[in-house]
Amino acid sequence: MTWEKTGFSTKAVHGGEKLEKGSVATPIYETSVFAFTSTKELINVISEKTEGYLYTRFDNPTVRAVERKIAVLEGSEDAAAFSSGMAAITTTLLTLVSKGDHVVASRDLYGGTLTFLQELLPRFDIEINLVDTANLNQVKEAIKKNTRVVYAEIPTNPTLKIVDLSRLAALAKKHSITTVIDSTLATPYNLTPIKFGIDVVVHSATKYLGGHNDVTAGIVCGSREFIQKLKKTRKILGGTLDPMAAWLLLRGLKTLALRMERHNRNGMQIAQFLEKHPKIAKVYYPGLPSHPQHRLAKKQMRGYGGVVSFEIKGDFEKTVQFVENLKLCLLAASLGGTETLATQPTTSSHYFITPEQRQKLGITDQLVRLALGIEDPEDIIADLKQSLEKI
Ligand SMILES: Cc1ncc(COP(=O)(O)O)c(C=O)c1O
Repeated sequence: MTWEKTGFSTKAVHGGEKLEKGSVATPIYETSVFAFTSTKELINVISEKTEGYLYTRFDNPTVRAVERKIAVLEGSEDAAAFSSGMAAITTTLLTLVSKGDHVVASRDLYGGTLTFLQELLPRFDIEINLVDTANLNQVKEAIKKNTRVVYAEIPTNPTLKIVDLSRLAALAKKHSITTVIDSTLATPYNLTPIKFGIDVVVHSATKYLGGHNDVTAGIVCGSREFIQKLKKTRKILGGTLDPMAAWLLLRGLKTLALRMERHNRNGMQIAQFLEKHPKIAKVYYPGLPSHPQHRLAKKQMRGYGGVVSFEIKGDFEKTVQFVENLKLCLLAASLGGTETLATQPTTSSHYFITPEQRQKLGITDQLVRLALGIEDPEDIIADLKQSLEKI
């Protein structure tokens, strides 16, 4: 079956599955190793002369099904699955860079990625420059002869900045630089960066792809050639996804379109509610016309997702009071699941950086990140209202 002409939901339900013996769901191959009937067969698989499975750290049929499905959804030639988003990101970067190379990255990245770039990679003589990737002039100025990778997130977390993907890809191609986009907050339902010329797409599948706050996983999508190289690194570093987690991810993906429709609707409705509320100073949501890059977001994206950030009129204590008084929304630091989660970036994702760094990134004491779930929007709004009334 070719998937290009099918709709997103059809791809999500059927894409990548190779079912046998009347089974409707892909089975969980919960085995760490595979047996052979002959040495010749073993040699053929180990030397990659024939397709087959040898050892689950290398590859596994349930893991392979999830990789094929996500490749169909992202429109990439292939994909590789990892035990976490961080395993996906670090294995990708270690595949792409060597001693003496230079990386240009967004300064608004997820904390774990930033730590890897700023603290681990420099130990291997890899130089990093952090810029505001929403401003392509800064990217252009940072590029050097030894730049191998440009790395960004879309939308960024928690202030939801957008990168112009076509222009970023064109700029990088001119200098033979590989572009890597962490598209966790967008998901392939809302955005497919590869269509804009981006080389590699990474996801924390722990978020929307898994979608139920019950699985930790990572995904990388790219060309067949790159994924082959990446899998060689994965084999050594060992961050392959476990078959049980792969199966949960596979199940979560089947409802991705349905969930994203609701996340998008909740995002829009709650951003609009917050923008009008007298106790709210500022709302960050790319779907709002007041977002500085709304036109670019509209051009690139099908929907704007379920993350809405906002500043409360008040101080740190009042913001603590607000998140603690929420009854339906849970005080928890993730996103993309069925449950609505609220956090203050100052006490979670950006807790370990200095106040000066926070100020640079627009992370104030009054900032709240709401990762909307798929509950009824009226109930989420009622919860926000009652908590705002108390401050
Ligand atoms: C945008 C983004 N990328 C990567 C990660 C890391 O993913 P994981 O927690 O699955 O390792 C996160 C985690 O919050 C994230 O928000």
